[in-house]
Amino acid sequence: MMLSKKLSKITPSVTIGISTKVKQLNDSGIDIINLSIGEPDFFTPDTAKNFGIDAINDNITKYDLVTGLKELRLAIKQKLEKENNIIYDIDDIVVSSGAKHALSNSLMALLDPGDEVILPKPFWVSYSEIVKLVGGVPILVDTSKDNNFKLTAQELKNSISDKTKVLLINNPSNPTGAIYKKDELQALVEICLENNIFIMSDEVYEKIRYNDDFVSVASLSDDAKNITITINGLSKSASMTGWRIGYTASSKEIAKAISTIQGHLVSHPSTVSQRAAYGALTQCEDDMINMVNIYRSRRDKAVELLSKIDKVSYINPEGAFYLFIDISKLKDKIDFKDSLSIEFCNKFLDEYRVALVPGIAFGLDDYVRISYACEVSVFTEGINRLEKFVNSLY
Ligand SMILES: Cc1ncc(COP(=O)(O)O)c(C=O)c1O
Repeated sequence: MMLSKKLSKITPSVTIGISTKVKQLNDSGIDIINLSIGEPDFFTPDTAKNFGIDAINDNITKYDLVTGLKELRLAIKQKLEKENNIIYDIDDIVVSSGAKHALSNSLMALLDPGDEVILPKPFWVSYSEIVKLVGGVPILVDTSKDNNFKLTAQELKNSISDKTKVLLINNPSNPTGAIYKKDELQALVEICLENNIFIMSDEVYEKIRYNDDFVSVASLSDDAKNITITINGLSKSASMTGWRIGYTASSKEIAKAISTIQGHLVSHPSTVSQRAAYGALTQCEDDMINMVNIYRSRRDKAVELLSKIDKVSYINPEGAFYLFIDISKLKDKIDFKDSLSIEFCNKFLDEYRVALVPGIAFGLDDYVRISYACEVSVFTEGINRLEKFVNSLY
């Protein structure tokens, strides 16, 4: 008996591979500095948790609307209006089980077999695999380090074919922390409009940013809004990864298609989680601001430490909680067969007990990613060990 042929093309998540190795080492009593983690280290704010607890006690535990609880969609509509300057009806919004699920729903709604999705490199690990799972073809596009790996209009133009259906961007970016400026987005929108290409804009790190430059693509114009599916969620902004709440905001036609798909596959996300997300969106603004302030001071500290290591450079993050580090200068110092970044991370983990994510997971093998979603003392020790490791190679 054969499994689906589709599966043979899917790469198991490199990040999950690393966490498994870290867990095995921890279980055998070896202490690891884990800088590979992709989730906030904060707990969910108490107010949000209490909304979830109340939902259970109030028996909000039955099937509800496929598109999500009405009050939650209203809160999302109001958030998009107030913070992003985009006017949606609540029927344009579909609440899903995490941003990942919102992405899968959207790709299922838009793609026919063989349709191409443009993914600027570096891209978040799951994008290419979700595209393949739903029968699409990921087109991995080179971008330039000089532009902090943000896709330019020319790079986009060069990658379009008659099969191109979607441009998928991540703003702010995991792994670089870069944020697109308004004119950069405008230039991408124009090309997409000229070529009938949808834009999926994954904005899950939107609230974790260190300046006021963030612009949501859909806010640029009515035309931009018509072709854009905004993906967002509460996992990162409100430290609610385990609750699994994300959402899409899109044209009515796309929202309806997403709702049809979601209705058959999962009905809707847990009502208890939706109530907690409602609590987070309506009453946890201050908690979210506090978390961002902590991330900002960690970012400053992590950058200060890294800047002291001569042989590596990095993209200065404007958002999210990662640093994407260029290790290309160490190429001839590491003995590797297939992947520099995997060998680098394995050696660093084995010899210095620090876990990072190899850049190859994001499509760029000359890089590694560290996360500063952990205590300052933890990443300080990790980066100090990185300095020792790099120096030991000379
Ligand atoms: C860029 C990006 N999009 C989506 C997600 C998934 O978010 P969620 O937990 O809401 O599914 C992640 C999580 O790491 C992410 O980094």
